[in-house]
Amino acid sequence: MENGYDTQALKAKARRHLWMAYQPPEPFGPDGGPPVLVAAEGTWMVDSDGKRFLDGVSALEACIAGHIRPELADAALRQMQQLEFLDVFRYASPPAVELAARLAEITPGTLSRVHFTPGGSEAVETAIKVAMQYHRLGGRPGRYKVITREGAYHGCTFGAMAVDGDYFGTRTHLYDPLPGFGRIAPAPYRYRCPHCSDQPQCTLACADDLEQVIMAEDPETVAAVIMDPCATASSVSIPPPDYMPRVREICDRYGLLFIVDEIITGFGRTGKMFASQHWDLKPDIMTLSKGLSSGYMPIGAAVVDEEIAQVFMESPEGALSHGQTYGGHPVACAVALANIDLIEREDLPGQAADKGDYLLRGLKALRHHRTYGDARGLGLLCGLEFVHDQGSRRLPDDPRAAGYHMRSICQDLGLITLTLHPGNVLFLAPPLTISHAEIDHMVDILDRALGRYEERYL
Ligand SMILES: Cc1ncc(COP(=O)(O)O)c(C=O)c1O
Repeated sequence: MENGYDTQALKAKARRHLWMAYQPPEPFGPDGGPPVLVAAEGTWMVDSDGKRFLDGVSALEACIAGHIRPELADAALRQMQQLEFLDVFRYASPPAVELAARLAEITPGTLSRVHFTPGGSEAVETAIKVAMQYHRLGGRPGRYKVITREGAYHGCTFGAMAVDGDYFGTRTHLYDPLPGFGRIAPAPYRYRCPHCSDQPQCTLACADDLEQVIMAEDPETVAAVIMDPCATASSVSIPPPDYMPRVREICDRYGLLFIVDEIITGFGRTGKMFASQHWDLKPDIMTLSKGLSSGYMPIGAAVVDEEIAQVFMESPEGALSHGQTYGGHPVACAVALANIDLIEREDLPGQAADKGDYLLRGLKALRHHRTYGDARGLGLLCGLEFVHDQGSRRLPDDPRAAGYHMRSICQDLGLITLTLHPGNVLFLAPPLTISHAEIDHMVDILDRALGRYEERYL
């Protein structure tokens, strides 16, 4: 018994009763169990045996503000003592109203109407429904397809899953027939890009690929394009400077809505409040979650452009056919408001820009490893790609297994990371409050991890 927790007893109960995300009911073997985390502070998390881990991924990309910030706990407690919950379909709470107004103010362009959800997948569902209904209300019922990108992840509910770009190539076939509106286009991926990986400047051929897909589908059948701007799930791919403006142009040319999924990139992660601002991009709908509350409460949002909302306002059929009991939960909204205050007060976007550059320099310094492939990132959203060997850029023979081994080594060395599609990219997105010394520590662990991986598995 360490830390007041009986790890073995907790693992035994988990083996018996806990069915974890994306796992079979009992994936840990007869004596195993999930690592159990019991506490956190700043950039650190502690397990039930008292072992400390550097949190390299902000606990599923959410914890922008760092762990255990008293101001966020206070905001939750204050709201719980005043009005813990209400019928969110028929009544509004001050935190929901204030948060909607605040999001309208800080998001780019003329995004102005906010629908709150309990999480990210439901925000994506909302965005898809709004896009389809928008075209229907405008007399274009044939426009129902949504173009996503290869390897994209936009969520796990049926609608969101229909626009997952065959993430890990394993899941959607289990549920066929899925809602049939998702279509997949290639994403830019400079390290292996068929168009431009050997050129100093990326061409815009990837954006043109997207246009080809739209043309092949017939633009008159397409409602929207959805993108996570940095293609996080498919290995963190930072688009070349002209890519997003070109996509915007293509959407406008064919009358498509552009849904920008900032569930990971929002709230300072990439060095600006929203990644869209790197390219002066004006989305038609933006989806948000994770950093919206820094993970302190579950909340998501779809923020819709004023002109689109206007079409709904002018139609007798303009009611949104969506709503969930816990969408716009007052405690979650109160925490999100306090979180945005904190992000602005501490200039977390500026901190992410500065520390992101520092982290990226550290990652690039690992190129002496023969398995080092590429390091890339924007702000504190980085990917470290490891390969069979640097010269050939070949993928490891089994990228998913390689990713599993590398992640386990990092965990043994005290670093929590994730691996991204197809498995051989380590994801590094720590809380934006991480210190430079902690970044050094993270890079030192990665250095040792690559060495250990090469020794054991090559
Ligand atoms: C870009 C993106 N969109 C949507 C989602 C789905 O969010 P949630 O897990 O809250 O349903 C995720 C989750 O990781 C995501 O990364």
